[in-house]
Amino acid sequence: MHLSDEEKAMYDGRDGPAVQKAMDLLMRYGEALGAERLVETRNVCATITSTTPFQRDFALAKGGGMDAVFSEFSLDSQETVEIPKFKVFTSHLQLGFDPGQPERMGVSEEIVRFYEKSERHAAGLGAQIMNTCTPYQVGNIPTRGEHCAWMESSAVVYCNSVLGARTNTEGRESTGAAMLTGRIPYWGYHLDQNRRATHVVELEIEVESVQDWGLLGYYIGEHVQERVPVVHSRRGISRVPNLPRLKHFGAAASSSGGVEMYHIAGVTPEALTLEQALGGKAPVEVLRYGEAERRATYEKINTTGKDAEVQYVMLGCPHYTIEQIWEAAQLIEGRKVHPSCELWIFTPRAIKSLADRNGYTKIIEDAGGIIMGDSCSAMSRAMPKGTKTVALDSAKQAHYLPAILGVQAWFGSTAECIDAACTGRWNGGYA
Ligand code: F3S
Repeated sequence: MHLSDEEKAMYDGRDGPAVQKAMDLLMRYGEALGAERLVETRNVCATITSTTPFQRDFALAKGGGMDAVFSEFSLDSQETVEIPKFKVFTSHLQLGFDPGQPERMGVSEEIVRFYEKSERHAAGLGAQIMNTCTPYQVGNIPTRGEHCAWMESSAVVYCNSVLGARTNTEGRESTGAAMLTGRIPYWGYHLDQNRRATHVVELEIEVESVQDWGLLGYYIGEHVQERVPVVHSRRGISRVPNLPRLKHFGAAASSSGGVEMYHIAGVTPEALTLEQALGGKAPVEVLRYGEAERRATYEKINTTGKDAEVQYVMLGCPHYTIEQIWEAAQLIEGRKVHPSCELWIFTPRAIKSLADRNGYTKIIEDAGGIIMGDSCSAMSRAMPKGTKTVALDSAKQAHYLPAILGVQAWFGSTAECIDAACTGRWNGGYA
């Protein structure tokens, strides 16, 4: 792989052993991918902190040092090296639990203290403790064409498709190396030719609500897998999808398939037209999305939903926007969560502060629900005790929770989910 003089200097140890190891890792990774060179990045999103008993025991065995944990888990180095401050702007993604709710999440105080130590270490190195799968909601909004190194599939697909920035789905090790060097292999979605649409999805029905966009995303992911779709409507997209809609759409497409980049003709930045999205080439396939496809997708996502009694309603996958919390607060105001059910809503900490100030947290808590940060049930494997059936407004979470926690899942609109929380029953249905 070709290295610039600056990269050679880092590789030769000019900036110390941690940066040298980071460059070595990037070289091995880039060569395995067939990348010819690295590209500069000033924007990394990653998981850095430690939240598991295994990492705690590892740190203890290594004398308690967080540098040992970073060396092993973020640099693939069994030798402990001193970790210098990060070279580039680095945002912390979600965790395995909300440290403010250890009991609810089934986490011991000891693990929370260990986590807090690792958070202080990461912050001290320069990480922004955003603790969300939606960094683009809380201050990390890369610009079009900006090269990034991001983890988290729902964030990656938003970054590429909606913002027009460029990233592959990175891992803990490659992002660890990127934050120390400001480099990432130049391949995949960093390159123009890989960002062009391969599949056209022709809309034959209106796609309007958040639930509609989740269904469409799930359908597309299943059919195109890891290829690049462009959504097109001959009549034009009558209502431009907003942030919550695109957030749910991309998260669904990256769950049922491996979509990391999509276009919506006339909406997303690299698809002013269908032709631009396709880059002048013929599509590999044209799919038609009409009422039959929508219904079949709805039934597929709801395959596990059998029992009407619902013990748990989880909202906030990907983490809720302030608009979605506002909507949930309006839907639940004056009602009460049923005694046999719990309502947990997940959002970035910064948005929770806004919800506190706006009075939405109080409305939701007065009704018996709770707003949490930092994690979600799929990440934490946590849900209320005795949960057999869960109600969700996220196709992504409905895809994962039955597989991860062995529960039944109902997928529907936010209003149907709030109603399930207040009645303890699923009264939703295809609409
Ligand atoms: Fe975020 Fe958890 Fe969903 S990390 S995208 S809320 S699975």
